[in-house]
Parts: sequence; C-alpha cells; structure tokens
Amino acid sequence: MTATRIDGKAIAGELRAKIAVEAEKLINETKVVPGLAVIIVGEDPASQVYVASKGRAANECNFHSVQHTLAVDTSEEALLSLVDELNNDIAIHGILVQLPLPDHIDESKVLNLIRPDKDVDGFHPINVGLLTAGERDKAMVPCTPAGSLILTKRVLGDLSGKTAVVVGRSNIVGKPMAALLLAESCTVTIAHSRTKDLPAVVRGADIVVAAVGRPQMVKGDWIKEGACVIDVGINRIPAPERGEGKTRLVGDVDYDSAVERAGFITPVPGGVGPMTIALLMANTLTAARRTAG
Ligand code: GUN
Repeated sequence: MTATRIDGKAIAGELRAKIAVEAEKLINETKVVPGLAVIIVGEDPASQVYVASKGRAANECNFHSVQHTLAVDTSEEALLSLVDELNNDIAIHGILVQLPLPDHIDESKVLNLIRPDKDVDGFHPINVGLLTAGERDKAMVPCTPAGSLILTKRVLGDLSGKTAVVVGRSNIVGKPMAALLLAESCTVTIAHSRTKDLPAVVRGADIVVAAVGRPQMVKGDWIKEGACVIDVGINRIPAPERGEGKTRLVGDVDYDSAVERAGFITPVPGGVGPMTIALLMANTLTAARRTAG
C-alpha cells in the first residue's frame, strides 16, 4: 500500500482563510480586533523562524499582532512583568511565550502567570485541567495536538473505537494529544522512552502520532497496514547529498518506509507544522470572541 499524503499546508491555508473572514466579521460587528502578542527570549534560529511565521499568519488573518523580542539575558522578573502588562492590555487577547526559554528562567512560573483566557498555547494548568476533565469547549487547546486531530479526522472521519498510539509524553503534544483522542472515544496508549517493545505497541495502532523529537525513529515496519500516521517531529539533520554543510528537515517518522505501509501520512515539512500556526490563529479568534460576549 502507498499512503495518501495529508496536505497540512493546504488544509492550514483553508483554515487561515476562514479565520480571516470570521475575524473581519467580528471586527465589523463588535469593533473587537483579535490581538496576539508573541514573546521571544534570545536568538534561537528555529524559534525566530516559528515566531516570524506566527506574525505573518496573524497579519493574514486581519489580527492586531505584536512581537516582543527580549535579549537572552533578560531576567525572569522582567519577563514576568511583561506578561503581567499583556495580561492587562485590552487590545491583546492571546499571549504566547515561545519555548524553550533560557535556563535561568523558570518556564512554569512564566506560563502559569498568563491569564488562562489569554493562554492561546493552552499550557496553563486551568486549560490542561479543563481538557482532561472533558470540558474541551471551555478550554484553550494546545495548537499542535488540535491541528493534528483535525488532520486525522479529515482523513478518517469518526474516530470512535479506533486504537491510537501517541509516541511521546510531553506536556505540549503527547499528553494533550492523548486527551483529545480519548475525547473522540479512541482507545489510547501513550508510549515513551521506557515503553517495552515499542514497535509491537505501534503495530497495534490505527492512528500513530509521533512526537518524540528523534529524527526518523518510527520505522515503516512498525506501522500497521493502512494506519493513519501523524508526524509531529521537526528535526534538522545533515544532508551532505545537498552539498557540504547543508541540512534538511525530517520528522520523527521514517517517511520513505512508512509511506509504503500507512493509509495516510503527514509529510515534514508541510504536514502538522502549518496546522499548529493556523490553530494558534483559531485560538486567538476564540479568545477575542469570548471577550466580545
Ligand atoms: N516551541 C515549540 N513548540 C511550541 C509551541 O507550541 N508553543 C510555544 N509557546 N513554544 C513552542
């Protein structure tokens, strides 16, 4: 079997176009302009690329968008004070602090200070709690899992009764992804570095979500024939075939072997990545709508 490629880039484009129309409507009807503030600390090149695309998407969606770029040696206190200021800024409906933060800053202290109703990343314990308690509609749902779920449902439809394996137990992707799949009535396994016989566990799954951050770790012969494979990984690896010092992006799935077994598969790049950004826009619109009543 050769898998159908899930075009996350195209689906994300459709979603952003819809959000732009909805935002325009909100602005015309209520004068509320969805506002997104993104904070980046330091000069990590990958983070800079992500943050720039978030800003571009916000402009495309007719949002008010601001970026705060702070030096790598910014104190925790200064960052907390900026978050506090944005919490009280009525023009801002969504606040995103790009991760990772430098080691001298306590990440959870910063994330927990963001007002839950402005927490468009969905990382605040209140939002985590709402999602795991089955109150998704009241929560802000983390963008990467929410985007991954849309792609999965787009190709499989109703997920009820399907077996799903999430490889990776991070707070950003693995755990919320499992909660979302459970809410869709999947039978969910979270696998991780201590899981015994990971290939056998993955082989049992109708849906595989790979979110471990290890390039090409999930092999084709781990995949059940016809399964839906969602690759969340974005890893830069050397690509000497492209010339000296060149690199390329790959996922956590070995695409070339997995595409021969899966029914559906997301590519990297062009799969989950663009969906993450589109869902950030969706969360910001939701946050703005909630303030408009
Ligand atoms: N760094 C990598 N992924 C993410 C994300 O989804 N949100 C934030 N804030 N930082 C990230």
